[in-house]
Amino acid sequence: RPRVLSGIQPTADSFHFGNYLGALRQWVDLQRDHQPFFFIADLHAITLEQDPKVLRERTLRAAAQLLAMGIDPARSAIFVQSQVPEHAQLGWVLQCLTGFGEARRMTQFKDKSAKGGEGAASVGLFTYPILQAADILLYRPHYVPVGEDQRQHLELTRDLAQRFNHRYKKTFRLPEPYILKATAKIGDLQNPTAKMSKSASSPAGIIEMLDEPKTSAKKIRSAVTDSEAEIRFDPEAKPGVSNLLTIYSALTGEAVTTLEEQYAGKGYGDLKGDLADVVVQFVTPFRERTLELLDDQAHLTAILKQGAEQARSVAEATLRDVYQRVGFVAAS
Ligand code: TYM
Repeated sequence: RPRVLSGIQPTADSFHFGNYLGALRQWVDLQRDHQPFFFIADLHAITLEQDPKVLRERTLRAAAQLLAMGIDPARSAIFVQSQVPEHAQLGWVLQCLTGFGEARRMTQFKDKSAKGGEGAASVGLFTYPILQAADILLYRPHYVPVGEDQRQHLELTRDLAQRFNHRYKKTFRLPEPYILKATAKIGDLQNPTAKMSKSASSPAGIIEMLDEPKTSAKKIRSAVTDSEAEIRFDPEAKPGVSNLLTIYSALTGEAVTTLEEQYAGKGYGDLKGDLADVVVQFVTPFRERTLELLDDQAHLTAILKQGAEQARSVAEATLRDVYQRVGFVAAS
């Protein structure tokens, strides 16, 4: 079975609809006929300052949410990045293979360091994509299911894999991004040309998976649309309405064209009201299941430990090859 790998940062109390529709839903689906490795990227989280207590809590909340949405530990290795030291170890080797200028071209560093200025940003934030390349290459996956905003990191990953393979010996598989076009960039409800984002969106622009369902319904009903009255999928001219149609279609499985027909002649209020109901139906059981799982932290940490062991057995073998090829003397 082809391997898949992906990760998510534990930097919010809840995942949001962008995370879910853009990536996590594909994680769940790919479990069926792939061999998956899914992890919570706590090493990446500390590239920006985190409160230790909150980081620990959010890491467990992330695990509970992944299980609640259907990640099955019997099919997938689900683990916490910091419990597999090979990520940081391979990260170092890859840093030594990356050009400074090459790292500088990564657009997320520019975005994330924009606020405080480059001087205030950590070096970890700068080398973030190289650690991400290590995360991926360790497991030699065929596919990496992510949203559009990760594409550039995947390109760097492929470049580094190729460079290592060429300089030393063929070691890494060149992974393919697995990005579903329809949901690759879910928009902010208040500013639909921007992506829904935990760091950049206002609370009203972002639907959190663990929000009170009635809060989510309200956010849908107050989503920004346009001054026409026609329900039509046209991301250029009508980004707000198109974003709502995308979310609607993704949650119900109805094609966007079917929805357009269904809502011909109806108003934005009808669309929003119905979508609000769909969202409530979806988040209510998810939220209950997550809160239930969070009640048994011993169970969660046991699942994560087992996942880390599975991951380590693969990661260790890759790192051993890498160290040998780079010229490090083996300890035994
Ligand atoms: P993160 O934690 O920001 O987001 C997790 C996943 O959600 C996707 N996503 C979106 N997709 C569509 N529309 C949106 N508005 C939206 N917002 C977020 C992201 O593309 C991502 O797939 N660097 C990664 C974490 C990471 C990783 C990895 C991913 C670390 N190592 C190795 C894959 C492989 C990140 O910050 O994702």
